[in-house]
Amino acid sequence: MRTVVLLLIMGIVDLSFGQRYSQLQWLSHLRGRRWHAGWQAEDVDCPLECDCPSTYPTAMYCHSRNLQHVPYVPSHIKYVYLQGNQITGIQDGVFDNATSLVWVVLFHNQLSSNKIGKNVFSKLKNLDRLFLDQNELTRVPPNLPKSITELRLGHNKISKVPSNSFEGMANLTSLKLQANDLEDIGGVFKGLKSLTLLDMRKNKLRKIPDNLPERLQQLYLEFNNIESVPAGFLTMYPKLKFIRLAHNKLTDKGLPSNVFNISMLVELDLSFNKLEKIPIVSRNLENLYLQANKIKEFSLSSFCGHKRDMTNFSQLRMLRLDANEISAKDIPAEAAYCLRRAAFIDV
Ligand SMILES: *[C@@H]1O[C@H](CO)[C@@H](O)[C@H](O)[C@H]1NC(C)=O
Ligand SMILES: *[C@@H]1O[C@H](CO)[C@@H](O)[C@H](O)[C@H]1NC(C)=O
Ligand SMILES: *[C@@H]1O[C@H](CO)[C@@H](O)[C@H](O)[C@H]1NC(C)=O
Ligand SMILES: *[C@@H]1O[C@H](CO)[C@@H](O)[C@H](O)[C@H]1NC(C)=O
Repeated sequence: MRTVVLLLIMGIVDLSFGQRYSQLQWLSHLRGRRWHAGWQAEDVDCPLECDCPSTYPTAMYCHSRNLQHVPYVPSHIKYVYLQGNQITGIQDGVFDNATSLVWVVLFHNQLSSNKIGKNVFSKLKNLDRLFLDQNELTRVPPNLPKSITELRLGHNKISKVPSNSFEGMANLTSLKLQANDLEDIGGVFKGLKSLTLLDMRKNKLRKIPDNLPERLQQLYLEFNNIESVPAGFLTMYPKLKFIRLAHNKLTDKGLPSNVFNISMLVELDLSFNKLEKIPIVSRNLENLYLQANKIKEFSLSSFCGHKRDMTNFSQLRMLRLDANEISAKDIPAEAAYCLRRAAFIDV
């Protein structure tokens, strides 16, 4: 089992450190193994451009070999690695025989939306992970299989997400759309019953998307143009644990007074915004990032409430307030009691 996992992971990570170190070694290793295992048995059902190691017969490795097209994928293959090529398009039918596919790894190619057939992926009823990050896509491909649990579309040029893009994807748990050109996404996430992670960093959002999934735990929205958080936001999404809103345009006016004071929130990143006050947060919060704002006052009540209650204190462990308009002497002595858990208070 360990080897299997290693091979699967190698298939993905190879690109990142492969250019420097393992690529040739990895290939010659595979070729050596193929040689020992005998050409006949192995070559029967593996395209020439790729490697299908006998030790893991359902995987096909075709990454980083200047491919311009997706090669023929035999029907027994479950994991196909095509990253780091120059593939610009995929015609309908290419995967039609490969209905066992569970992972399709296509990141770091030159795929453009106009050159992807309408039904390229639609017959892959077992597809679990689809990695299309670092391409030239301008919209989310249509007719994605509803079985997908992890979908990566980051680092493309996506500006359009048709409203039915994710319809019926009841098992999708992780959706990455970071570093695209999204301004307004409408309610496309509605119905993603299993989604726990949504990554929309580095887009052009002016507000937090509506109709987020109820189970969402991690929401990453750094580097957008968001000015406010809607009142009652955390009451609508009580499962949220990690909210990252660094590098936006948040002001005090955009934060309703108790908006972060309810919930299971563990981490709140509001750094690199324009806040002048420390927002009120729940006593259960563990990590609060507020560096590089315009905060002028250390308000202990923001973490500890107004009542000084001997049995109750804040769970904050990490509090960053550096690059604001306060200094260590602005922290009152009684902070030591309420913020007893805090290992780091950076000012
Ligand atoms: C699909 O697979 C069948 C047999 O498994 C084969 O006869 C057929 O040629 C394949 N089709 C394509 C388009 O490769
Ligand atoms: C979601 O996963 C469950 C359990 O693995 C499976 O039975 C169901 O068919 C999947 N739903 C879709 C839409 O693929
Ligand atoms: C935060 O919420 C708690 C629990 O609902 C409440 O007791 C507390 O007074 C609130 N803090 C502030 C500063 O409003
Ligand atoms: C401490 O405060 C929280 C809310 O801030 C409250 O739910 C809890 O009951 C309090 N615990 C005690 C012992 O007062």
